[in-house]
Amino acid sequence: MKIIALTGAGASAESGLGTFRDKDGLWSRFDPMKLATPEASAHNPDEVNASYNMRRQNLLSAEPNAAHRALARLEAGLAERGGSLFLCTQNIDDLHERAGSQQVVHMHGELLKARCTACGETMPWHEDLSVEVPCPSCRCPGGLRPHVVWFGEMPLEMDAIYDALLGADLFVAIGTSGSVYPAAGFVSEARGHGIRTCEINLEPSGNARRFNEGRYGPASEVVPAWVEQVLSSRFSSDQGGFTAHGSSHPK
Ligand code: OAD
Repeated sequence: MKIIALTGAGASAESGLGTFRDKDGLWSRFDPMKLATPEASAHNPDEVNASYNMRRQNLLSAEPNAAHRALARLEAGLAERGGSLFLCTQNIDDLHERAGSQQVVHMHGELLKARCTACGETMPWHEDLSVEVPCPSCRCPGGLRPHVVWFGEMPLEMDAIYDALLGADLFVAIGTSGSVYPAAGFVSEARGHGIRTCEINLEPSGNARRFNEGRYGPASEVVPAWVEQVLSSRFSSDQGGFTAHGSSHPK
């Protein structure tokens, strides 16, 4: 069985990293156009850097939770059974990797990397960024930015993601509100190609009706239970899915 999983901020919420659109979420408190666009970075780099510096410091003291660990078990378990997991995340944290996932596609980039706009080099980065810091590679000051995707920029690795999506037996979205495209469109793309879809979220998202199935509650509880079920199911590739039990609203 081939599964493609898309994770969002809800997967890391119980690790203490805030979400964006929930009450108290980052975009409920701040205007994303002032903190997460190329224009904001050009006009007010200090404010933009400060926001990412704070998030980087939070990340460095955060730990993966049971949802991250369950997805790492899913990757290994599917591989043992001749299947695969393609894990694609909108999250810029590294908690999937720290939980043991071997292959993670960060479509919105990575907070623990910086990129030099002068020489194009991307490098690991755990310190605060500022316009004074010179690029370690080309020595140009002022060119370093977080290696993240801002509004108005192209998400990364989209060809590989669509290949995996259209070759999958099951698409599962975990902890994402489905507000930001192109990720928000994966469920319709999958269903248009006859691929089963499942949403795992604290509560039904605005996209919930587009999914075949939904499982609701904290990711740290629902994801491990779902992974157990997937790994103990008899795979049935001719049905394009697996023989699952206990779906909340199978369609
Ligand atoms: P959102 O904040 O939009 O949505 C988070 C989702 O997680 C919501 O549907 C919550 O109900 C759910 N949630 C919260 N806590 C949860 C928990 N403990 N268990 C399960 N679900 C939980 O975050 P994303 O959908 O990830 O992009 O946002 C997508 C993109 O918008 C981000 O990658 C970021 C943001 O702007 C950029 O900055 C480009």
